[in-house]
Amino acid sequence: MQTKKVNICIKKALHCLDYDMEHINVIGRKELKGNIDISGSKNSALPILASSILSDKPQTFTNIPNLVDINSMIALLKSLGVAYKIIEKAYVLNASSISSVEAKYNLVSKMRASFLVLGPLLSREGRAKVSLPGGCAIGTRPVDLHIYAMKRLGAEIDIKDGYILAKSPKKGLIGNSINFSNISVGATENALMAAFYAKGETVIKNAAKEPEIIDLCESLIGMGAKISGVGTSNIFIQGVTGSSSNNHKVIADRIEACTYMIVAAITKSNLTIENINPKFIKQFLKVMKDMGVIYKILNNRIEIFKGGGLKPIKIDTEEYPGFPTDMQAQLLTMACLSDGVSEIRENIFENRFMHVPELNRLGADIKIDGNKAIVQGNRSLVGAEVMATDLRASVSLVLAGLVAKGRTKINRIYHLDRGYDKIEGKLKNCGALIERGYD
Ligand code: UD1
Repeated sequence: MQTKKVNICIKKALHCLDYDMEHINVIGRKELKGNIDISGSKNSALPILASSILSDKPQTFTNIPNLVDINSMIALLKSLGVAYKIIEKAYVLNASSISSVEAKYNLVSKMRASFLVLGPLLSREGRAKVSLPGGCAIGTRPVDLHIYAMKRLGAEIDIKDGYILAKSPKKGLIGNSINFSNISVGATENALMAAFYAKGETVIKNAAKEPEIIDLCESLIGMGAKISGVGTSNIFIQGVTGSSSNNHKVIADRIEACTYMIVAAITKSNLTIENINPKFIKQFLKVMKDMGVIYKILNNRIEIFKGGGLKPIKIDTEEYPGFPTDMQAQLLTMACLSDGVSEIRENIFENRFMHVPELNRLGADIKIDGNKAIVQGNRSLVGAEVMATDLRASVSLVLAGLVAKGRTKINRIYHLDRGYDKIEGKLKNCGALIERGYD
């Protein structure tokens, strides 16, 4: 039954069903109250699902969120011959044989994380044909670091007709040092998976340290990988010759948790965020404290208390453990309501302010100066019709709708379904006036 539902979602992910016309209506200025359960992390689940390619034994993954991006990854894995079933919410993936090594354009262009099949395909099958992802709403987003990592392990790479054709040497990839010039989450993940069977030792230098990288490493270790230095800038992998069955629970989504914490702060509500590891959001919690949010941490839950005014902030987005770029849009909405001028600098992506004109349509006063957003606070937002441009931009508009006077209609919300599990349900349970509609 659940598999049937996922198949429908896969069709949605492939845009075979038209859900471009869906929108969300929010009536703002309602105080909320209740508990919000955080789902599994999208950015952990995607590489972990891709890693199933590495093993000929069944892999079981739990706490996978119900998202369009997850269904896109499942569709891609299916197209490569990976069998899957869902047993009591656990995803059981079986790549006993791989029937294709080609990740087609229609899948990769919809979701960049599809590029994460390159490393595992190359490691296990010795070859891969993966479409280049191209640009996206938040910038050009090159893949040079991914290619560099594969080449360092001995892969030959050609680019033809928009595809990367990768081939490993006859006896397979060979361990080597991979010294990244810039920190990249995805390139670190591809390198980790490519190194799984690479002969000898691979060292990834200047590796990303995000909790999602740690989660992937722990899952790979469960599959038989030999990895040390997990969570540091230097990760060491000893290539193995076989794999084992694995049962791994994906960590909670820290970006989802931080987003709901902002919901509590801006709607001046008492909300409890459940199932979150507060250790993974230390920098974000500091920013909330600096802005005047009152909260209490209890093991894996955070209680946020109805507060008064919010203070402005000056912050730069940075790689982990810095302030996450994936929270920049939501923080901009919060800054509009704070008492003074905030400055938020985007250092990770070149074009990640697409939500600014839409927030300004709701009455915000945000100016862009290069990679810095200057936000005049104390704004009284008023509902209007707006357009979602990417995942985090979409949710920043939902947040703005929750505090705007009257009705906000957010169009193109398919972006939202890529990354926020049951968002209307979770907000409605706490008393928000939010509905999905169809034109
Ligand atoms: C991941 C996250 C995304 C998050 C981002 C940064 C997933 C599925 N997505 O994306 O939500 O916003 O990390 O935390 O986990 N770069 C290059 N060359 C490359 C690769 C990246 O120049 O080969 C650049 C990018 O353009 C960007 C920066 O490096 O400016 C960081 O990107 P990266 O960490 O790779 O982001 P993703 O892994 O795509």
